[in-house]
Amino acid sequence: MLIHSASQVLTLAGGPQRGAMLGQLGLIEHGAIAIEDGRILAVGPSDELRAAYSHLPQLDAGGRAALPGFVDPHTHVIWAGDRAGEFEARLEGKTYLEILAGGGGILSTVRATRAASEAELAGQTRARLRRMLAHGTTTIEAKTGYGLDKATELKMLAVLLALAEEGPWDLALTYLAAHAIPPEYREQPDDYVAQVCAEWLPELKDWWAQQAGERGLPYVDVFCETGAFTLAQSERILAAAKALGFPIKIHSDEFDNLGGTRMAAELGAASADHLVAASEADIRALAESDTVAVALPGTPFGLATGQYAPARQILAAGGLLALASDLNPGTSWCENMQMALALACRYMQLTPGQAIAAATINAAAAIGMANTVGSLEVGKQGDVVLLDCDDYRQLGYRYGTNLVHSVIKRGQVVFSAADPEANLNGN
Ligand code: NIG
Ligand code: FE
Repeated sequence: MLIHSASQVLTLAGGPQRGAMLGQLGLIEHGAIAIEDGRILAVGPSDELRAAYSHLPQLDAGGRAALPGFVDPHTHVIWAGDRAGEFEARLEGKTYLEILAGGGGILSTVRATRAASEAELAGQTRARLRRMLAHGTTTIEAKTGYGLDKATELKMLAVLLALAEEGPWDLALTYLAAHAIPPEYREQPDDYVAQVCAEWLPELKDWWAQQAGERGLPYVDVFCETGAFTLAQSERILAAAKALGFPIKIHSDEFDNLGGTRMAAELGAASADHLVAASEADIRALAESDTVAVALPGTPFGLATGQYAPARQILAAGGLLALASDLNPGTSWCENMQMALALACRYMQLTPGQAIAAATINAAAAIGMANTVGSLEVGKQGDVVLLDCDDYRQLGYRYGTNLVHSVIKRGQVVFSAADPEANLNGN
């Protein structure tokens, strides 16, 4: 197709954007994007492309702004149950870590997820993925981590693999058996860590080879935090994963600074996520590495802690900053990356342009997909969002309504606010 007559095309061309470079939008006014067989053939002035690609089906953007589909590089999109009662308890004064220590929090979602069938999990997760797509997110990282036993962790991965096949979204998958200490190991957490390292990870590698076809190995992630995994336990798991060839990620510095960020940068993690409590030295270590700093402003907002990742310092140090939703039932049930952008502008002092780059090309780098998605460049996937406005700066500025007019994934319209009939399978 040819998407023409866009007021602005934000190409985000040129690769991931470090430090002060963040926010290079590659803006083309009165632009167009030609897509064939799911890939971008050309991006440029609307007049030129209309002359050159008149044979393609035409999609008139009608003076709207166009940008790459959002990439959400940190989600816990698959779970069962909800935690509305805990939300209320937190508002009455309990903290997130107190609720976790009392057997609630992540562990309450673990109980519901263990009890759910694959069909139930697939149904609820598919509905969330569709809502994400409707808000402009076309590529999504998805973690396990509400099983915490071998079978349920693999059940979650099997459902995610099936949903990845189903599409139209692209999913990057992550194995997070080290999300919390399971109740069965409450008194012997080191035994759990030893078992994950010695048995579950090697078995996962074999399972993956049989189930996942040509897909590269999933990420292995760990929640390095007071009440979850210590620095030493986190390092054991990530080092074991790395030795087996898995790419790695970490949840670090969400509440307490345990040193996980520096450790992950040293191990060559693809990303370190949360970073609210990161120190100057952590930020420097990150900036000197290729580990992407993933900020999740929906989480402090969802928890009402008021403490956000130090984005300005990360950028000043030359770090690679990305944004994600952290979609999960405990801290941030938010399926909308536009909300993450709005929060990042206000509480992390990003401009709309910086937030957009962090949520597209840099987010793609956080999941190793910067060569295929996250920007509108020849050869990359034709994943495009048309906004219902003519100026990209309305993103971040406006919040609480969906600014997406339509979503194109690999050259196919998969969501249209104007034409609900065109939406994915009519849903
Ligand atoms: O990234 N911090 C750990 N994991 C999630 C929360 C998961 C949950 O509370 O269910 C997060 O915030
Ligand atoms: Fe998380």
